[in-house]
Amino acid sequence: MRALCWNGVNDLRVETVADPEIINPHDVILNVRLSTTCGSDLHLIDGLIPTMRAGDVLGHEFMGEIVDVGREVTKVKKGDRVVVPSFISCGKCWYCQHDLYSLCDTSHPKPELPEPLLGYPTAGIYAYSHAFGGYAGAHAQYVRVPFADTDCFKVPEGVSDEDALFISDAAPTGFMGADFCNIQRGDVIAVWGCGGVGLMAQQSAMILGAERVIAIDRYPERLAQAEAFGAITLDYTKVDVVEALKELTGGRGPDACIDAVGMEAGGTGLQQAYDRVKQALYMGTDRGAALRQAVLAVRKGGTLAILGVYGLMDKFPLGVLMNKGVTVRTAQQHGQAYVTRLLEYTQRGELTPAALATHRFSLEDSPKGYDMFKHKEDGCLRAVFMP
Ligand SMILES: NC(=O)c1ccc[n+]([C@@H]2O[C@H](COP(=O)([O-])OP(=O)(O)OC[C@H]3O[C@@H](n4cnc5c(N)ncnc54)[C@H](O)[C@@H]3O)[C@@H](O)[C@H]2O)c1
Ligand SMILES: [Zn+2]
Ligand SMILES: [Zn+2]
Repeated sequence: MRALCWNGVNDLRVETVADPEIINPHDVILNVRLSTTCGSDLHLIDGLIPTMRAGDVLGHEFMGEIVDVGREVTKVKKGDRVVVPSFISCGKCWYCQHDLYSLCDTSHPKPELPEPLLGYPTAGIYAYSHAFGGYAGAHAQYVRVPFADTDCFKVPEGVSDEDALFISDAAPTGFMGADFCNIQRGDVIAVWGCGGVGLMAQQSAMILGAERVIAIDRYPERLAQAEAFGAITLDYTKVDVVEALKELTGGRGPDACIDAVGMEAGGTGLQQAYDRVKQALYMGTDRGAALRQAVLAVRKGGTLAILGVYGLMDKFPLGVLMNKGVTVRTAQQHGQAYVTRLLEYTQRGELTPAALATHRFSLEDSPKGYDMFKHKEDGCLRAVFMP
């Protein structure tokens, strides 16, 4: 089959690779109908996530049709149109039983790799380096889905392929961020980042009853989409974000702040220059402009939800969180806990994930799609691939 492979920093190629096969009786094989790019993939392409190998198939956000079924799969069958969360979860371990699916104890085939770094291994994820399980991704004609009874969700009538696609990753991640904020009547929620994850967090915060959502980014098309979703917007290159947020909240600050930016944040000033140099030299430092701002802006006793992917950050103002009594919540997305609910919101038209699909490409043209997505050319918010 054809697949998009990582071959080094900024080196992506479509190659012919072996078709996936059922290797465990709980697997299914999916004929991928759509897959898409995620901000997390940019961290891989930019070489910031170690343990990628030349030839690894990329892509963790996808939906498709089941074409082959392992003998112990009972809940889904050949021909089903399904969406699959990006983290792989067994459904049976203590963590899965407690809805903490991205912390699954079973799905990482080599737990000894992440354990020294994290203390304990976490779940495997499609196409996210060997430290995260070494699973082949879905920018391909076919993909193997383990634990199909837990990880495949049938897409109901009235939900299009493009809507279902983002319920794999961007939508559940954003929704989880809003859920972490424990939104009460009258709450103001600020969201850093208007990529797919940030936009889905904004729409989710409104669904969950936020009185106002304030969206922060610099790209006009992304800010325009946030406004179309009903958010108030701030361009972080044009205003002092912390001051602007104080002004919009009568001096108190947002009740909750959501970081949907991650380790490659844009910013200004000396701290940004310092972060940039250390990151460029692979000195293990994230660019933390957005997260630091969120820490400063959140009201006393408020909540900080971190969705952006981070590694090691220098000069992280932990004392600010401590002195202000801020609750911090963070996770890789527990998609399996949210997908059914998100499909229902989408069916009712309350959630509109397909709004993220700005550009479409054949699989053969996927390197061009990644290039546009990375450089945000032509307002590209998410590049969608049709194998
Ligand atoms: N927790 C999870 O399970 C999970 C799942 C998916 C993605 N992610 C992470 O979430 C983050 C966002 O993902 P995405 O797909 O939306 O990425 P994206 O690259 O499409 O969007 C990121 C946005 O952040 C904006 N930004 C950069 N610096 C900023 C700043 N200082 N202030 C405000 N906005 C700023 C960029 O302009 C961009 O629009 C990434 O770090 C990604 O790795 C986490
Ligand atoms: Zn992702
Ligand atoms: Zn599990």
